[in-house]
Amino acid sequence: MTALRGVHEFGKRAMWPWLCCAVVLGCRQSDSQAGTAGDTIPSLSSMDQILLAASKVILPPPGLAPADLPDPNSPGALAIARYCVACHALPAPSSHSATDWPQVLRRMWARMDGLPRRFNVPVPTTGERVVITRYTVANALKVSGANLPQGPGRERFERTCSRCHELADPRQHTPGDWVAVVTRMSQHMEQMVGQPLDAQELQQIVLYLEGASKATRRP
Ligand code: HEC
Ligand code: HEC
Repeated sequence: MTALRGVHEFGKRAMWPWLCCAVVLGCRQSDSQAGTAGDTIPSLSSMDQILLAASKVILPPPGLAPADLPDPNSPGALAIARYCVACHALPAPSSHSATDWPQVLRRMWARMDGLPRRFNVPVPTTGERVVITRYTVANALKVSGANLPQGPGRERFERTCSRCHELADPRQHTPGDWVAVVTRMSQHMEQMVGQPLDAQELQQIVLYLEGASKATRRP
């Protein structure tokens, strides 16, 4: 957020040209995302090239279809599928906690409202914004409480798994399910920040989550 505030301070007029480029390019290349962050457009200044590459880091990863959204025919899911795919892949409501969603959405409203109309990006009404906010908050990531169980791998889990969203609650999956979730997160890390977990990190985090899920599970 600090970096983003900095961008706003340096002026809306200076910001929109590169954002538009980022948005257009993001649409064309949404399959590869962070993997193409190094691509350059010769006509852009070097600062614009960096801003363009930076804007493609931590975009929602590709792969989610509207039918995969929780309660896919609800007004919230339909609104996300309509308004949230113009600039990047469909975002999952579980990608942020209920506490974080309102500020993520505030950034998205600002981007939609400020984008020149010639891009024809649909802009939700105030009522639709309320529907989207309620839906993301209701289906948000479940976060861990303050008392995570001790155990080897806890520090690595805390450090690695809080990079894109708040720390997930170990109890929300059975011990046997965590390996699939962490493997998927490693794929997201490769797509969104260009670096997956290595085999040792993956194993350590899975072992910790399996143990923490067991330790805190009610019989
Ligand atoms: C006008 C283009 C545009 C639209 C429309 C848009 N986004 Fe984004 N979104 C961006 C850009 C640019 C980024 C990367 C910079 C950032 O994170 O602010 C981004 C990043 C994201 C991220 C990843 C960043 C993070 O903090 O995890 C999520 C999640 C997200 N958008 C959700 C949404 C949702 C939900 C909607 C619909 C309500 C939406 N976006 C609509 C431009 C857009
Ligand atoms: C590079 C960004 C990123 C990092 C780092 C990351 N996540 Fe995620 N996480 C996501 C996104 C995007 C989603 C929503 C899409 C999905 O569920 O695949 C998500 C959703 C989740 C969910 C909710 C969905 C579910 O299946 O229950 C859990 C739990 C989760 N992450 C756990 C973790 C753990 C554990 C780690 C550390 C290994 C981690 N995340 C690291 C991006 C990330």
